[in-house]
Amino acid sequence: MAIARQVLCVCAFLSLPHAGAEPIRYSRSRGGGKRLPEIKLTKPLDYEAAATHELSVRARDGGGLSAICKVLVEVVDVNDNAPELVVSSFSSPLPENTVPGTVVALFSVRDRDSGANGKISCALEDQLLFSLRPAYKNYYELVTVSALDREETAQYVLNLLSVDVSDVNDNAPVFNQTSYTMYVRENNVPTVFVGAVSAADADVGLNAKVTYSLAPAQRQSGPGAPASR
Ligand SMILES: *[C@@H]1O[C@H](CO)[C@@H](O)[C@H](O)[C@H]1NC(C)=O
Repeated sequence: MAIARQVLCVCAFLSLPHAGAEPIRYSRSRGGGKRLPEIKLTKPLDYEAAATHELSVRARDGGGLSAICKVLVEVVDVNDNAPELVVSSFSSPLPENTVPGTVVALFSVRDRDSGANGKISCALEDQLLFSLRPAYKNYYELVTVSALDREETAQYVLNLLSVDVSDVNDNAPVFNQTSYTMYVRENNVPTVFVGAVSAADADVGLNAKVTYSLAPAQRQSGPGAPASR
């Protein structure tokens, strides 16, 4: 029977960990006259909540046979979180006879983004009486650097800058070999595997995503190469 041989493409996700909460679903569309399943987002993705989503797709034919394939969706992190500053300790008021080098405050900075998107630099706006000292990990200490005089200045307002450091695309992809020699026997069938190449990029996120395409051949040599005129 003709209908039994036709793949009806009944597709369904089998392993949705939190069905309904999942931001990815499938739908069907008509492409080139064929019914093709499409995977679409139903809500915004958050890299910080889930960096990957794994789905299972089942294809079923009219005769009841089926196959399952896994789809792994990787979420690319973008710099969507501002740095946060948490003060752990703060001594105020300070006696004016405080010796230089006294720790006035201890605080930590963090950024929920990952990789270079989560990098933070911390600085104190220009002034001469206080400085920032990295303590441990992402902790900083605010320390006095010179004597304070209550009669001269009774209050200091310090502006702390924590700056998100984001990645710029300053690295080109680099192939793992400068040239590749691949051997393939003549009279081979089309689609036979010839070899693989690989390139890496030192940037992060989208700046590090490498895609490949065949560039026009530069020259051919050996028997069978077209004679140049
Ligand atoms: C370069 O990458 C290709 C594809 O992954 C691999 O087959 C090859 O062994 C790699 N070469 C080196 C020198 O690592």
